[in-house]
Amino acid sequence: MNDFIFYSPTKFIFCRGAATLTGQQLSSLGFKNTLIVYGGSSAISSGLIQKVKTSLDNFHISCVELSGIRPNPEVTSVRQGIKLARENKCDSILAVGGGSVIDAAKAISFGINYSGDVWDFFEGRAIIKECLPVSVVLTLPAAGSEGSASCVISNDEIKAKRGIGSDAMRPRLAFLDPETTFSLPAYQTAAGVTDMIAHVCERYFSGAPDAPITDSLATSLIKELIKAAPEAIKNPTSYDARASIMWAGTLAHNDLMGCGRSLNVNSRAGGWESHALEHELSAVDPKITHGAGLAVMMPKWMEYVWREDPTRFIKFGRDVFGISPETQSKNDIEKAVLLTIEKLKSFFVSIGMPNSLSDFGLDRSQVDSLLTGLEKSKGRIFGAFKKLSPEDARAIYLSAF
Ligand code: NZQ
Ligand code: ZN
Repeated sequence: MNDFIFYSPTKFIFCRGAATLTGQQLSSLGFKNTLIVYGGSSAISSGLIQKVKTSLDNFHISCVELSGIRPNPEVTSVRQGIKLARENKCDSILAVGGGSVIDAAKAISFGINYSGDVWDFFEGRAIIKECLPVSVVLTLPAAGSEGSASCVISNDEIKAKRGIGSDAMRPRLAFLDPETTFSLPAYQTAAGVTDMIAHVCERYFSGAPDAPITDSLATSLIKELIKAAPEAIKNPTSYDARASIMWAGTLAHNDLMGCGRSLNVNSRAGGWESHALEHELSAVDPKITHGAGLAVMMPKWMEYVWREDPTRFIKFGRDVFGISPETQSKNDIEKAVLLTIEKLKSFFVSIGMPNSLSDFGLDRSQVDSLLTGLEKSKGRIFGAFKKLSPEDARAIYLSAF
């Protein structure tokens, strides 16, 4: 097991009716004037925004609102939020939504005290030093942004989607109420679960040696998700299934799954190869849901790289799916690994996820532009489990049609 640093400063409030506690909790931190950030329509139609506003009002916290954050959030709305928060001298930000809303709130939080354009942070021209405190009412368990140190923003003008990280942006408070997720469509539920499994796998297959405690937690999380996802899709108001999914989403990405894998103080454990490959898909077409893109790219990445460390895949297959090679021959090991990857792929398909890039309307002629974007965001060579060159990335993309 490698050394590690684990820092998860967020206070998680997990209960029915959590949104009604926002006023009391924000007030206890001394906040008086907050910017509420939310998405297209779900948080309004569910009545959640009204509940939050009433709760804030009860504790004399004034608020301004920024609505309309789209999935794969765009930098233009971040700029709007920065302007609004400055004009109104907000002392905090409250995101009500999923990963896109939270990430927009995070970008506003570090853009607000910077005199240049907020996109500079995503190009490495500015460094995050301070953030306005962000809190979260989570409505979609998926990205894990409610506890993470990262933020992913798109820039449509240059067809880019970039992620950056800093502990300074980790949310102060996260309000988690599984009942707020009863209204989630099956597709978003499934894409969310896929994203969580990917967050666990990016760290599990990081190239680091075994970390027994973290490895067991990792495979247990995935097993619970494989049980809970079909249940939540069949019965959207199943509290227990929704609760398991919600808490798994947080644990999958607050860096607990990286403990014992690396002591890299500047970044998470792992090379995040599947995420890098996926982010280029949703940069080219913002209608592509992040988790759905991962459902296609992650098994293809696995098929391409598993030979770097078959024992890691054998351990994963045994602990998640009960698959073991009949003998230790090369042939049987290969059979067991490929069956493991196939099982994971079939699970994604069984919950309604795509398994080909053609399902997104993409075609092979677009691979060159995906590779251009990938090189700009990750550099020419990237990856930890296996170093990937542009030719490797091309082969993985082409295998996904
Ligand atoms: O806009 P509204 O009307 O709210 O609809 C949203 C949106 O259309 C809907 N939704 C949310 N909660 C709902 C609901 N519909 C019904 N009932 C509810 N309770 O769901 C749609 C998708 O929302 P979005 O926030 O985009 O989804 P998700 O949470 O999957 O976030 C995806 C974004 O997070 C980034 C992704 O790249 C993507 O941009 N990620 C962020 C990470 C981080 N900050 O740590 C890590 C992840 O790996 C990921 O990259
Ligand atoms: Zn993700």
